[in-house]
Amino acid sequence: MIYLDNAATSWPKPETVYTAADMALRTQSGNPGRSGHKLSLAAGRVVEDARLWTARLFGVTAPERIVFTANATEALNLALHGFLSSGAHVIADSLAHNSVARPLAALTGVAVSLAPADPKRGVDPGCVAALWRPNTALVVMTHISNVTGVENPVHEIGALCRARETVFLLDAAQSAGVAPIDVEAMNIDLMAFPGHKGLLGPQGTGGLYVGPAAPLRPLKQGGTGGFSESLSQPAQLPDRYESGTANTAGLAGLTAGIRYVMETGIERIRAREAEMANRFLSGMADIPGVTLYGPPPGPTRAGVVSFTLAGYAAQDVAFILDNSFDIAVRAGLHCAPGAHASLGTLRTGGTVRVSAGCFTTAAEIDRCLEAVAALAAAV
Ligand SMILES: Cc1ncc(COP(=O)(O)O)c(C=O)c1O
Repeated sequence: MIYLDNAATSWPKPETVYTAADMALRTQSGNPGRSGHKLSLAAGRVVEDARLWTARLFGVTAPERIVFTANATEALNLALHGFLSSGAHVIADSLAHNSVARPLAALTGVAVSLAPADPKRGVDPGCVAALWRPNTALVVMTHISNVTGVENPVHEIGALCRARETVFLLDAAQSAGVAPIDVEAMNIDLMAFPGHKGLLGPQGTGGLYVGPAAPLRPLKQGGTGGFSESLSQPAQLPDRYESGTANTAGLAGLTAGIRYVMETGIERIRAREAEMANRFLSGMADIPGVTLYGPPPGPTRAGVVSFTLAGYAAQDVAFILDNSFDIAVRAGLHCAPGAHASLGTLRTGGTVRVSAGCFTTAAEIDRCLEAVAALAAAV
């Protein structure tokens, strides 16, 4: 089977991820941070190790500012519902995933302005600057689009936010583990990341970096293992946002995934994904009936590529690739309708998305190209 759906979740994982999760389930699975016995202490060390490695990866000097969640969606909900109040104005971008767009829509009394994203270049920082209002409380940006792979100029937007003393939230769902991120150097106040995509960890992992300029209301209340005499949620991080039993085995796997990424080197992973995307884009350019969306080939092209094929609905292409060629891709709107509005694919069933991961090979890309060529020839 050829797996080209790494933007949804990465697969396979490094061998060390399987081993670490298995070992945690067997030997480190007391309740972390709760009891004083050896199995509980071992689990606590697993969780804190994951925090240290995550902080190291993102340039976070205070590891307690990494809050673990079940996925990027939960982290984005914590950031948006926890930070925004009625009367606030938010600047977002038209590439926003529904895990940003839907919480924003659900917040009452919060006004949202959308910076349009060019399919090939992303958002123009000048357009973002022009949207600022006296009550702009937050700028939330997609780092890398899950539809086209376009990268927004987040360094420039972070600098704008710092100059205007506005909180900057980055959706790093497609960039964590693939693009270098340093929250302090990039002026990021809040950053949501999944553990199960580019960080190569198990599903059920993710987190939010909570910077000092962005205190949040907790979304959930409950046991944290300490301060149990008080009915109030503790003020201390990460306990304030992490009530309930942690995903110890998942976090053990996440640490192994992050270590794999750091040992391999983000630049190498990026270059490899770019090579695979470029190979795919070049091959697709020669197939009749193919329309490609997003940025052209380039040295830092992200591994996400979207296309449509004349004579086929996107869903049919994905179905045939899976059932006749054993190639896993995703079709549709990819939970980001705004991105499709600018591509003109919103009302036509979206696109077929091919997303390379750090284990994708040139032979797999070539097999996918052959399969698309066969479909094109059959029209
Ligand atoms: C840009 C973007 N943001 C947020 C998410 C949500 O991530 P998760 O599946 O970890 O909740 C995704 C998932 O594909 C995404 O691509």
